Amino acid sequence: MSANVDVSAHRRAVEFADGVFWVGALDPTLRSFDIILTTANGTTYNSYLVKGSDGVAVIDTVKENFSDEFFARLESEVDYGDIKVIVLNHLEPDHSGALPELMRRAPQARLYISQRATSMLKALLHAEDGLKYTTVKTGDTVSLGDRTLEFLHTPFLHWPDTQCTFLREEGVLFSGDVFGCHYCDKRLFNDLVGDFRFSFDYYYAHIMRPFKRHVLDALKLIEPLQLRQIAPTHGPILRERPRRYVTHYRELSTSALSRGIGDDDQSMIVFYMSSYGNTARMAEAISEGAGDVGGVRVSLYDLQGGETEPFVDLIEEADALLFGSPTINGDAVKPVWDLLSSLAVVNLKGKLGAAFGSYGWSGEAVRMIEDRMRGLKMHIPTPGVRVKLIPTEAELEECRAFGRQIAEALVGKSQKKDVIEFADLA
Ligand code: FEO
Repeated sequence: MSANVDVSAHRRAVEFADGVFWVGALDPTLRSFDIILTTANGTTYNSYLVKGSDGVAVIDTVKENFSDEFFARLESEVDYGDIKVIVLNHLEPDHSGALPELMRRAPQARLYISQRATSMLKALLHAEDGLKYTTVKTGDTVSLGDRTLEFLHTPFLHWPDTQCTFLREEGVLFSGDVFGCHYCDKRLFNDLVGDFRFSFDYYYAHIMRPFKRHVLDALKLIEPLQLRQIAPTHGPILRERPRRYVTHYRELSTSALSRGIGDDDQSMIVFYMSSYGNTARMAEAISEGAGDVGGVRVSLYDLQGGETEPFVDLIEEADALLFGSPTINGDAVKPVWDLLSSLAVVNLKGKLGAAFGSYGWSGEAVRMIEDRMRGLKMHIPTPGVRVKLIPTEAELEECRAFGRQIAEALVGKSQKKDVIEFADLA
């Protein structure tokens, strides 16, 4: 492939391994993806074509309004009657948008999806009956004669339905969202495009990071493969040193912080904001109480002290998170919400949570913070502590006891649950 490759100059398929073609679409002007991601370089919707001696497979499609580009590239290489197999690794609309039309144009083709994609497929096509599809799991294969597609079950990367597909003979992994990035460059291949490292890591941080555990499970399937290229659904095709990206994913999915501090101690972090020093006094008393319990390392942070982003790694590693906020105009204060709203990128399920705060007349902040923590699937072992205005010595002692109670729950000395968790009922 020459350095002058420019796939936007025509709408033809681009071959990158023997009988394997890119038939996707470029979206260079996109500046926001799924609302939460900025996309300074736009993105691509990568779709692929594999030719075998006994039929053709299409792997993933494109966002619906890019269908013309996709079908033009497809038609440049095959007739619809030759398409025997359609694989959807992921049914999010950016990859399934052109699927209904493709199935209309290639009615003889059989669709292969993961088991968990079934309900999404029915919702997408609005058809209960007559759908020709097969659900597949890790190790299942489909033959194209001299070519074999092997499926890897890789859920939650980035929806429950996601899977990867490996073309054995060419060593190409069609990875879906995994190893992707929102980076549109008409030169298409990682050895030709601009420096996309920032986009790659930014994409990981927002799309994959909440599912690190699932990434590590997927890597167990991917690492043993005889991998020659990775073909994701977004961004450059990784044909040069693909294994470097696999290694990088393992690094990104492994804890960013050493647990050397405190050795095997459980980590409790107490965050607070305080208007008149009252919630701060509560935070200090809670920390003192928690610190009395062996095996718990307590950290205290005033959110007035700076940016919240540096805390995200700490929070991911912590075992318990406490948030203190005064109530102002019936609400918790903005820095607390800023931190809580930034936590969608980490998995907090099962961590202990608690809230506390001083208030003037209504004191809603504590319950609101607890609701948010429940929404993040955290476990609230005991209702939060509220103090009207300046805490008395007795109330500070109550705060110490509260800290001890959370710390004891953390080290397993007390598993008493005073609050029914909505997450547990799901
Ligand atoms: Fe690119 Fe999760 O869709």
